Amino acid sequence: MSVTIKSAREIELMRQAGKILASVHEELGKALHPGMSTLDIDRLGEKLIRSRGCIPSFKNYNGYPASICVSVNDEVVHGIPTKHRIIQEGDIVSLDAGVIWHGYHSDAARTHAVGQVSPEALKLIQVTRESFFEGIKFAKAGNHLNDISSAIQAYAESFGYGVVRDLVGHGIGEHLHEDPEVPNFSQNRKGIRLVPGMTLAIEPMINAGRPDVVWMDDDWTVVTDDGSLSAHYENTILITEGEPEILSL
Ligand code: MF3
Ligand code: CO
Repeated sequence: MSVTIKSAREIELMRQAGKILASVHEELGKALHPGMSTLDIDRLGEKLIRSRGCIPSFKNYNGYPASICVSVNDEVVHGIPTKHRIIQEGDIVSLDAGVIWHGYHSDAARTHAVGQVSPEALKLIQVTRESFFEGIKFAKAGNHLNDISSAIQAYAESFGYGVVRDLVGHGIGEHLHEDPEVPNFSQNRKGIRLVPGMTLAIEPMINAGRPDVVWMDDDWTVVTDDGSLSAHYENTILITEGEPEILSL
């Protein structure tokens, strides 16, 4: 598959998808509280997505069994919701969600602090979010993909954090995952040149410790190898002639 340039009509649908997804995330963030299970979060998320006329894009994607990926503390991404996992005060919880609206996808993730969390956890959440914004400073027509990747890496590593290598961002549109891959770390090549009409899901996954991750026995849940905390922040963006447009905010 090659990198697609979206038409005005496609961009408008992705804008609508992004707005809906942003509102789903807002509601989920407000609802998150100690005592609820990760399955409660998934059920609420699926209801919010469907009540807005969208389809949850993760559900049954490559066999993933839920609508919202819920990843707690040392879980990096793709945590599977279950009624047995209860959210506690002091947890950090990454929520990743995708919607399909009239055939077009939007994908976004946020990490939330539940009640009072450690200053170290708060800092990790904040820097992960900031690393996304550092990256998209370079998301401009004429720049290259690696400009984004290296900016994210340089920012996160300046705090001593580990940038996850085994998972990357991606193009998005008619499919959840399209070309190109969007790493959060520098490649030794420039990568593709950015052109208006490209839509990308940029998603730094940052560990408080080492970058290494491992997969759990469920074949989905990715955790930090050293047990350190991990945070995730993702938005679907549009490359324009000027500043990038963040579709899922
Ligand atoms: N944001 C994640 C990604 O881009 C979500 C995929 S989870 C899956 O890969 F369940 F859909 F695979
Ligand atoms: Co994604």
